Amino acid sequence: MFDLQTMRDQLAAHYDLAPNPELAEKMSAEYARMNRVVTPFDWARHAPYVDAILRLKKERNAVILAHNYMTPEIYHGVSDVVGDSLQLAMEATRVKADVIVQCGVHFMAETSKILSPEKTVLIPDVEAGCSLAESITAEGIAQMRAKYPGAPVVSYVNTTAEVKAASDICCTSSNAAQIVAALEEDTIIMTPDQYLAQNIAREVPQKNIVWWEGSCIVHEQYTPQDLRDFREWNPGTRLIAHPECPPDVVEEADFSGSTAGIIKYVTDEKPEKAMLITECSMASNIADSLPEVDFIGPCNMCPYMKKITLEKILWSLHTMSEEVVVDLEVAEKARVAVQRMLDLSKKLGI
Ligand code: 13P
Ligand code: SF4
Repeated sequence: MFDLQTMRDQLAAHYDLAPNPELAEKMSAEYARMNRVVTPFDWARHAPYVDAILRLKKERNAVILAHNYMTPEIYHGVSDVVGDSLQLAMEATRVKADVIVQCGVHFMAETSKILSPEKTVLIPDVEAGCSLAESITAEGIAQMRAKYPGAPVVSYVNTTAEVKAASDICCTSSNAAQIVAALEEDTIIMTPDQYLAQNIAREVPQKNIVWWEGSCIVHEQYTPQDLRDFREWNPGTRLIAHPECPPDVVEEADFSGSTAGIIKYVTDEKPEKAMLITECSMASNIADSLPEVDFIGPCNMCPYMKKITLEKILWSLHTMSEEVVVDLEVAEKARVAVQRMLDLSKKLGI
């Protein structure tokens, strides 16, 4: 269990982490990327952590791979690469540094370790889990195979290494439809996200898609009535939903895509008003680069993603913990499923 007080005492003994308006002023270039969403007062609190992390990153020859759901001070302040699950996995195969600090959830750190076994992969909080990854085990995959003999198993990257190892190929929300469509078999098992599977089943009607009953606690909360209400209360707003939302929610939206797909859509379209039907940090992270777009709430917070903070990133680099370890045999099998996804994505031009 994480002892916050011990961590704070030890960090205070090594770094000057008091709010620092002068340092904040010096780091105005970094602040410029987030000043629409982070107050000057908060930036004065964040700046000492950002400064310490940037120095330590160099000392340790580390890179920070951050998911699009990280908070703006992480996303804009300390990250080397930001992206959706697919972009982060691709990046993990290219990293030259000795250390990867994964700012995201545990399955993402495991994916980096699987793809870059020779690197030290750190996660700032091991309790950054995922309701989808927790919903299925390798035993669940075996049950699905027994129920649908001969059907290939396509597992979302939001799964543990053991589940990936028991699957035929992985997918993310940005390549799921193309991967499913490219498989030879007519019946395809998709795990563990029932809603992603149902959304893909609509996009790829030629396949008989069967699914595991997992769901994302962030996206399953939206209802189609929410979207109809948002539209009525904010006429002219573009509604953009992540495909982990239930299909009747996606149907009410103007566009659906992975977190990178959502960023691309809003950047290309620049709607006057946009509502992102996904995790809260998404709108915050792109607000400054799109001043012409009015991002209207509400949003849902992922409690797992929000376990990653500047303080814990500094602690992680300071102590070189928590190191992500994947059993070698499991990693070897999981790598086959992840690499198949990456190779097929490349072939399909995704
Ligand atoms: P993408 O970033 O791949 O769209 O996935 C979202 C997600 O599930 C992260 O938790
Ligand atoms: Fe998992 Fe949903 Fe959180 Fe993503 S947003 S980490 S899918 S619980």
